[in-house]
Amino acid sequence: MSRKIEVTFSRSPKAGSGASMGLAVLLATEDGGIGEAAASVDPANSVERAMRVAEFKGRAMATLDILAPAESPANRILVIGVGDPRTVTEHDWARLGGQICAKFDKATKVTIYLSLPGAEIGGAQAAEMAMGILLRAYRFDRHKTKSDDGENDADAGTVKVTIVTPAAAAAKKAFEDAEAVVGGVTLARDLVNEPANVLGPLEFAAKAKELSKLGVKVEILTEKEMKKLGMGSLLGVAQGSPRGARMAIMRWDGGKAREKPVAFVGKGVTFDTGGNSMKTASGMEDMKGDMGGAAAVTGLMYALATRKAKTNAVGIIGLVENAVDGHAQRPGDIVTSMSGQTIEVLNTDAEGRLVLADALWYCADRFQPKFMVNLATLTGAIIVALGQHYAGLFSNNDELADRLAAAGVATAERVWRMPLGPEYDKLIESRNADMKNIGGRHGGAIIAAQFLQRFVKDTPWAHLDIAGTALGAPANEINQSWASGFGVRLLDRLVRDNYEG
Ligand code: BES
Ligand code: ZN
Ligand code: ZN
Repeated sequence: MSRKIEVTFSRSPKAGSGASMGLAVLLATEDGGIGEAAASVDPANSVERAMRVAEFKGRAMATLDILAPAESPANRILVIGVGDPRTVTEHDWARLGGQICAKFDKATKVTIYLSLPGAEIGGAQAAEMAMGILLRAYRFDRHKTKSDDGENDADAGTVKVTIVTPAAAAAKKAFEDAEAVVGGVTLARDLVNEPANVLGPLEFAAKAKELSKLGVKVEILTEKEMKKLGMGSLLGVAQGSPRGARMAIMRWDGGKAREKPVAFVGKGVTFDTGGNSMKTASGMEDMKGDMGGAAAVTGLMYALATRKAKTNAVGIIGLVENAVDGHAQRPGDIVTSMSGQTIEVLNTDAEGRLVLADALWYCADRFQPKFMVNLATLTGAIIVALGQHYAGLFSNNDELADRLAAAGVATAERVWRMPLGPEYDKLIESRNADMKNIGGRHGGAIIAAQFLQRFVKDTPWAHLDIAGTALGAPANEINQSWASGFGVRLLDRLVRDNYEG
């Protein structure tokens, strides 16, 4: 089961490690070259021989696992391919870390030699690798009393990983930030994986409140306070659940005083039954993750505060459960949002937009932010359009959209821009109110975005539909969990590259 992983960086392997070096990891290029570090781990040159016998070429992510010969200070030697060192991207180093982590097996001590013939590997790359290791090691196992092989988890132990690199000092520095981001991703994954009986709106709000420990200012609005503010759109969704509603406002003031904040808004539906327009049984359990947007915002605030980002940031999450009892909202009900605009609720399962309508308006109204990015597991339609490898990006601002796309490429949390326009906006005109909450059968993800846009005023804004990428996305080198934590690394990067200092 999950073990604690400690990563350190060192210019040379720990002295006196002797035969207890454990697992030694060497990098290989696609033409079979391995770094000069090999000599100390492999005095008898058996790695080269094993590579030849196994016809191992250092193709990217390929691995060769060798039982170390008697002369070696290691027990096992793992060779991992990096492909062509000239084309390795920053994110590839995280993937390599993840791939190495997958091969730890029972090792409690791991030494990774970051050297390649004819290539410099810097501190940033080393820190990315460490991040990949930690992200890959994530397990959601807090509700398992026994590990999968039947043993009790009490003594799961620690894995000590040493990354040997001449850039150890720079790596250590870069890793401080990377570790903060890993903490944010881990928090987001935990929140999303947690079942809805454990994590409802109040419990989620309490988790947000815990960020105060990091210097985040957290306010929690109760139903009464939201009612006073006129948030009839959000509260209409919550009214069929006995578990209440909350809005958490998290503020990290790491930038200049009086400088406008950047703002992030999340959909936090802790369970989405669909309400009276109820969903079918198959797969409904996935709707415990319908707060993936709120989880990403919370994880992001954790990361920004932990790494003391030099920026003013606001995170706002609308927390409700979309359930059904005798008080639940009915199709045809008309609610009044905080903006004053009225909404005819023709489908109670299109609830995320109703929650965001008030959260976005509140954010724009109170903070007048530089921009707002909202994240939401908003529509099944975005999964039909993009599958699970890209999040849908909708924006009223090209600069913001381009910056998000660039951050997506850098972090491999990729986004794909989708259109907005008056033709789509027309589809939510209502006979009985200012708008309705669904359109026709076509372009469902766009219609949802169009609805949100009616609540952002002139604020530069982007909406990320993460229904496909946050939940049940295909496992990869750095994520094996149902909840990916999508959005935390993307938005941390957006802030770091554009809105700090
Ligand atoms: N939470 C769902 C969207 C969703 C679907 C998230 C699959 C994650 C995975 C959302 O509230 C919803 O039910 N949307 C409806 C909208 C429709 C009624 C216009 C949908 O997508 O079917
Ligand atoms: Zn729904
Ligand atoms: Zn939903």
